[in-house]
Amino acid sequence: MNIHGELRLPQLADDLERFEAVLLSSVEIGDDYLDSITTHLINAGGKRIRPVLSTAAATGGQRPATNDELLGGVALELMHLASLYHDDVMDEADIRRNVSSVNARFGNMVAIVAGDYLMARSAAIAADLGVEIASLLAHTLAWLTRGQVSEVRTAFQTSRSEADYYEAIEGKTASLMASSARVGAVVAKRPANEVDALTTYGRCFGMIFQLRDDILDMTAVDGQLGKPAGQDLAEGIYTLPAIRAMADPVVGDQVRALLGRPLNDEEREAARQAVVATDGLAYTMSAAQAFYAEANEALAQLSDSDLRDSLSRLMTALLEGLPLVEPRL
Ligand code: IPE
Ligand code: IPE
Ligand code: MG
Ligand code: MG
Repeated sequence: MNIHGELRLPQLADDLERFEAVLLSSVEIGDDYLDSITTHLINAGGKRIRPVLSTAAATGGQRPATNDELLGGVALELMHLASLYHDDVMDEADIRRNVSSVNARFGNMVAIVAGDYLMARSAAIAADLGVEIASLLAHTLAWLTRGQVSEVRTAFQTSRSEADYYEAIEGKTASLMASSARVGAVVAKRPANEVDALTTYGRCFGMIFQLRDDILDMTAVDGQLGKPAGQDLAEGIYTLPAIRAMADPVVGDQVRALLGRPLNDEEREAARQAVVATDGLAYTMSAAQAFYAEANEALAQLSDSDLRDSLSRLMTALLEGLPLVEPRL
């Protein structure tokens, strides 16, 4: 899915081109070796969801973004990039954005320190945008790291609760998306009710994004994800479909017996099929639909109806991609 194409906001494509130049120049040091590390994932691509959200929230796609509005998106994308450098160390990932991860290419030490560097650049840019943005980004980072720690803490725990799951995904995914939309709205000086509405939208968008990701991990056919379906189960990350399946009054005990430890290919596939046979996926889909409804309610606060329709369409596109019970939208 092409995120900014889906929004169909006239000015956004130009802004995103300008954004790329500002993003690169914000991390370049001027030394070939260091720059190859700090720009490694920027050059590899990525969907730029966070700057799309911040720019759309700022301009509604109706006028060129100001330099400060672009810098708000840069601060968020840099925090996201830093979290990817660190996450790939934590997850021992070899591939990111279809290229070698930073840890695989340069080693864990470099990935950790370079992630810290990107985080520091994000903080410096946020500080230039004023104390409100600096504070927001600091809170966002705390929220994000809480989510990551919560996920690590509950790995392989068959007692993982829905509350544990929501704490993790709000932190690791929704926090940055909520703050992306908020930064755009604040820098553009939107009225307080619209700032809050766009923040709610960003958070719900992030929740839907992660719920979708967790559904796809269970349902993807070979090749769709670049990794086998059921990988989360094998790695001990019990997402909402699995948590629901483990609570099933009839087969819950059987599902739980298949989990709780690392799985080989055969065990992973057996566990995945056991989860898919319950109502775990439909339950997860209805959770996504509840966030969809909450976001649409918040969007009603926006006076710009084009922006409202665009942001709503973007969420619809996220849900429609799912190979499941058709969402009732
Ligand atoms: C990946 O985010 C990390 C999560 C929060 C799930 P994205 O899917 O936005 O990653 P890029 O930026 O497109 O690589
Ligand atoms: C990544 O989460 C979230 C952050 C980087 C904060 P995951 O570990 O679930 O996502 P991928 O699969 O590596 O993108
Ligand atoms: Mg990961
Ligand atoms: Mg992770």
